[in-house]
Amino acid sequence: MKDIAQKHLLVVDDEKENRDLLVAIFAEEGGYKITEAKNGTEALAQVTRLKDELDVVLMDVKMPDTDGISVLKELQDNKINVPIILMTAFSTSNLAIKAMQMGAADYITKPFDIDDLKLKVERLFERKRLEAEVAELRTRFTGFEPGEKIIGNSPKMHEIYKLIGQVSSSDATVLITGETGTGKELIADIIHSSSKYSHGPLIKVNCAALPETLLESELFGHEAGAFTGAVKQRKGRFEMAHKGTIFLDEVGEMSKATQKKLLRVLQEREFERVGGSLPVKVDVRVISATNRNLQREVDDEEFRSDLYFRLNVISIHMPTLLERKEDIPLLVEYFLDKHRYSQSSPPARISKEAMEVLMRYNWPGNVRELKHAIERAVIYSRGGVITTQNLMLSPRSAASTTFYVDKLVQAKTPLEQVVHDLERAMIVEALRHADNDEGIAAETLGLSVKLLKEKIGNYQLE
Ligand SMILES: Nc1ncnc2c1ncn2[C@@H]1O[C@H](COP(=O)(O)OP(=O)(O)OP(=O)(O)O)[C@@H](O)[C@H]1O
Ligand SMILES: [Mg+2]
Repeated sequence: MKDIAQKHLLVVDDEKENRDLLVAIFAEEGGYKITEAKNGTEALAQVTRLKDELDVVLMDVKMPDTDGISVLKELQDNKINVPIILMTAFSTSNLAIKAMQMGAADYITKPFDIDDLKLKVERLFERKRLEAEVAELRTRFTGFEPGEKIIGNSPKMHEIYKLIGQVSSSDATVLITGETGTGKELIADIIHSSSKYSHGPLIKVNCAALPETLLESELFGHEAGAFTGAVKQRKGRFEMAHKGTIFLDEVGEMSKATQKKLLRVLQEREFERVGGSLPVKVDVRVISATNRNLQREVDDEEFRSDLYFRLNVISIHMPTLLERKEDIPLLVEYFLDKHRYSQSSPPARISKEAMEVLMRYNWPGNVRELKHAIERAVIYSRGGVITTQNLMLSPRSAASTTFYVDKLVQAKTPLEQVVHDLERAMIVEALRHADNDEGIAAETLGLSVKLLKEKIGNYQLE
């Protein structure tokens, strides 16, 4: 049996000196089981023998018998997909690019930076562990569809997984709260697909998107002639969700009148269509979500307290991305894998510096913003390596400002120079946005045209 606490690494290099160095690095780190192979043929034999027991292979490209690329290819042909990090002597080598295209998990150039090497190896272990965990979660939630992946390995996310596990076996009403982009809708999808209602429909209603009058008929349907335009009888979302789940998104935006009607459905599981008098009975699981603080709305009497208690039988509060920063690398990897530059492209990769920027940013838009940032960066980097320049994060972020200020102070940059550079950059940018119209640019910057002209002169921007 494999000891799961121990990470099994195979080191392949024809030079004993190199192998010894690698073994020493990971032995010192602790927690690793290390196997060695001194050429490609031996590597193939070891990988085939150890199979699933092996977590990561660290392999030299240039070896006298079979080179690393051939070994990689051979393993792939045999459908053995253990992650392989190739070691090559040239950073710009076509070989490295070829290796990535051929499906190496990563590569490292010699002479290597020890910390970088450790990080790359660690990241692959982490990925493997995560994949195992997701697979485990999937078997635990019946009906969990592979399309809906929920990423996160932080303690906060584990609390969420536990809650999902608990609610999926009941039919209790669930209220999901949390800031924008934290994954509330995703959680609703997963609860539905892992519950006994998963064979029924999942009907979503965005309460904020519909005007008051329409919301009622959307939810409960209407009889013919109930109001102008109601030509035929129409089923509402509650009826459509029969034997399934109804997801009331942005539930905090409902008017008092609709709140009252909703309360009755929750109490009695029946309602009347708009303009109708016959009660309609339904069996539905209700999940609602809001990014408002409903408790406060209740205190302010904006939201009915009796409805709040009915909706909030089980509450799931989604953490912000800042509260689970350690999940950022996993999410990045997931989105890189998901959003390819083109259908046939391998996943783009990200530079260490760019990852640092992502770790320091304050993510007001949470996971959604991270997802969009990665999608954009993949395009700007043309599917290659994402650099800090490819990340277009909101410059107003306090955290990223702190990040740059920190760097500037460390580099002992004179304040005057920073102010000067920033002013110049802002003027250039404002002019660019304004198509060089000085009037518009001056307005954007909050300067008089005269002062702007003067500054343009000083900075020699004409
Ligand atoms: N843990 C996660 N793993 C993977 N993807 C996630 C995760 N959380 C959120 N996402 C993705 O981020 C995006 C935003 O999530 P979602 O729509 O569920 O947020 P929300 O909380 O409903 O936001 P809003 O309040 O703005 O409606 C979606 O594309 C979703 O798939
Ligand atoms: Mg949402």
